[in-house]
Amino acid sequence: MVKMYTLWFFLIEIIIHFSISSSGKVPSIIVFGDSSVDTGNNNFIPTMARSDFKPYGRDFLNGNPTGRFSNGRIPPDFISEAFGLRPIVPAYLDPAYNISDFASGVCFASAGTGFDNATSNVADVIPLWKEVEYYKDYQIKLRAHFGEEKANEILREALYLVSIGTNDFLENYYTLPERRYEFNNVEQYEDFLIILAENFFREIYDLGARKISVTALPPMGCLPLERAINVIDYHGCVEGYNDVALEFNGKLGRLVTKLNNDLFGFQMVDANAYDILLQIVTHPSSFGFEDARVGCCGTGRFEMGFFCDPQSPFTCKDANKYVFWDAFHPSEKTSQIVSNYLIQKYLAKFL
Ligand SMILES: *[C@@H]1O[C@H](CO)[C@@H](O)[C@H](O)[C@H]1NC(C)=O
Ligand SMILES: *[C@@H]1O[C@H](CO)[C@@H](O)[C@H](O)[C@H]1NC(C)=O
Repeated sequence: MVKMYTLWFFLIEIIIHFSISSSGKVPSIIVFGDSSVDTGNNNFIPTMARSDFKPYGRDFLNGNPTGRFSNGRIPPDFISEAFGLRPIVPAYLDPAYNISDFASGVCFASAGTGFDNATSNVADVIPLWKEVEYYKDYQIKLRAHFGEEKANEILREALYLVSIGTNDFLENYYTLPERRYEFNNVEQYEDFLIILAENFFREIYDLGARKISVTALPPMGCLPLERAINVIDYHGCVEGYNDVALEFNGKLGRLVTKLNNDLFGFQMVDANAYDILLQIVTHPSSFGFEDARVGCCGTGRFEMGFFCDPQSPFTCKDANKYVFWDAFHPSEKTSQIVSNYLIQKYLAKFL
């Protein structure tokens, strides 16, 4: 009888231990990338790529501009909330927050950046390598505050959101001559970016990151700014840019498979948002939208950043009717739909 009891006890012990270690609740959301996920770092650096003024943020929790390129919240915020953490992820450079705040969520992203150093140079924003330097600095503060063991646990169990790449093509390769001169074609530039991506993921793995979600390119030919200049196609989506996005995302997906095989304990998901975004753009009314061709801000065709003028009489009344908030960025409602989709399809395994 006693033996039996001990056995039961032992089994239960194993089950409890196993379920705790395998479900490994996410204690923190840690974000790297560009304006698709920047929650306000650019407010604290001298760059033109900023949005810390009205009408940005007009539907945010307190109606204030935050540096998010949106009328409200963006995907890291929605994902953080879905994981039972805060409804917003603070920007690392924001002095209003300290290390105890950042322990449950921190954003290193910078609007305008890319995998390629030459991309972040365009608007003097934070290059990806520097986002990693901030992450190292964060680790030092986390260890000083919580001790080695607790800090390592947070870093290991955190969910890392990485969303980047659009600017490498639209702000850099297709806008400036250098990279097009250097590479024979866009495929070669994609391969160059994939090498940079691999180096980045291996580096954060070495620094302790394990659960990673990467979102690469949207159907970037359907961004209002790109449609506005697509005069010959009656302002339809620029199919060439969408093809590049699909091709690059395919290469990134293969990188994800490779890294999951190569790196022990690595759990990386390819949280591809291309399909859902294309669905929304091509069938806006199925998602409750009235307009997918132009952004809400101003005329919606070119305005973003400083051009998104608080005085513009053209700015829409209800951003929830628009897929895009400005000429380059989704509205809060689109971000929410995309976040819910990504959570259900890719991130639920970490919940
Ligand atoms: C962080 O700020 C909060 C108040 O916002 C304060 O209660 C807490 O003690 C601070 N923590 C550190 C480590 O400074
Ligand atoms: C990007 O710049 C950083 C800092 O100067 C440098 O360490 C890194 O090697 C550069 N990356 C590439 C691919 O040139």
